[in-house]
Amino acid sequence: MSGPVLRIDLDDFAANLTVVRARVAPAQLMLVVKDDAYGHGIERVVRRAAAEGVRWFGAFDVREAIRARSAAGPEARIFSWLTVGRTEIAEALSADIDLGVGDAGFLEDIAAVAGGVGAVARVHLKIDTGLHRNGIRPEEWPEVLERSRTLEHEGVVRIVGVWSHIAEASDREDDDARALFEDAVTAAQAAGITLEVRHLSASAASFARPEFRYDLVRVGAFCYGVRSAGGPAEADLGIRPIAALNAPVTHVSEHAVTLGVGSLHGLPSSLAKRAALAPVEGRLSVEHVDLGHTEVAAWPHAAIGDEVTVFGAGGASATDLAEAIGTVGEEILVRVSPLVPRVYRGE
Ligand SMILES: Cc1ncc(COP(=O)(O)O)c(C=O)c1O
Repeated sequence: MSGPVLRIDLDDFAANLTVVRARVAPAQLMLVVKDDAYGHGIERVVRRAAAEGVRWFGAFDVREAIRARSAAGPEARIFSWLTVGRTEIAEALSADIDLGVGDAGFLEDIAAVAGGVGAVARVHLKIDTGLHRNGIRPEEWPEVLERSRTLEHEGVVRIVGVWSHIAEASDREDDDARALFEDAVTAAQAAGITLEVRHLSASAASFARPEFRYDLVRVGAFCYGVRSAGGPAEADLGIRPIAALNAPVTHVSEHAVTLGVGSLHGLPSSLAKRAALAPVEGRLSVEHVDLGHTEVAAWPHAAIGDEVTVFGAGGASATDLAEAIGTVGEEILVRVSPLVPRVYRGE
């Protein structure tokens, strides 16, 4: 190898899917594929997951949802959760995408576009349970439900879901969020809405807290083998990282080894003096990261051309590196530059 390579093992991915699905059953898995499937490549990931029987996919925006639709085929359900403009709503409806709705104005836009093209939009109403990122405020909820019923009667929308997103940072806050979520679901049902799915939790709560699973769980990180920063180890969760960033040794001196990977490839320069490329403290400690190279502590018999695991299976995990610089494993993965070739196993 002459430069870094991101090796992605789709068989390991399939094994993680099996673990996650068994854990959350009878709830179904919605595989989250935002940010190009956390840097793993949306098309290949979705294709493999669909072949493994995954039926729901969660995308950040309509652009990604449409990519997921092409890869998953017509039977899959694709959910897009970002509020978008009318052009994208039309594109989403023609690709049969389910739309997340976090404000009353967006519901009107969807109804107008659906009415114009003779479609019935499938909508998942989002209640704001405390994150304040986006979501209908509890005090506005009754009015939005009433309006939803009217639009259902007009035949332009069908409310198929109620959902929200939680911080998964403290059980107490998550419990408070869940109480608001329960109230929102109860109110929707009392308003005469027939819900197909309720979804609230992501990786951590889906695994640890059965009462958060409802009908669907939106899981990204654990399916890709990325554990939560500060959370249980991959082995305890039964998952393994599906990607490994490998880089060649390009120079060897008495005290240091240089690897052909640097910040231009997406490696944070802040790893210097803080992280080690193996889970053992002090082993292969990162000395310096420049644009194209990374210097690590020397080890016996290092030779130019050797391939070193910067993170991933067999080395430090993305979350190990992330913890050293106060971030999360997802960030380490999505930073890997599109210039770094992806090599897939198990296609
Ligand atoms: C709305 C929403 N649902 C689910 C997820 C998946 O989270 P995780 O990767 O922790 O499973 C995310 C991730 O950012 C999200 O924003």
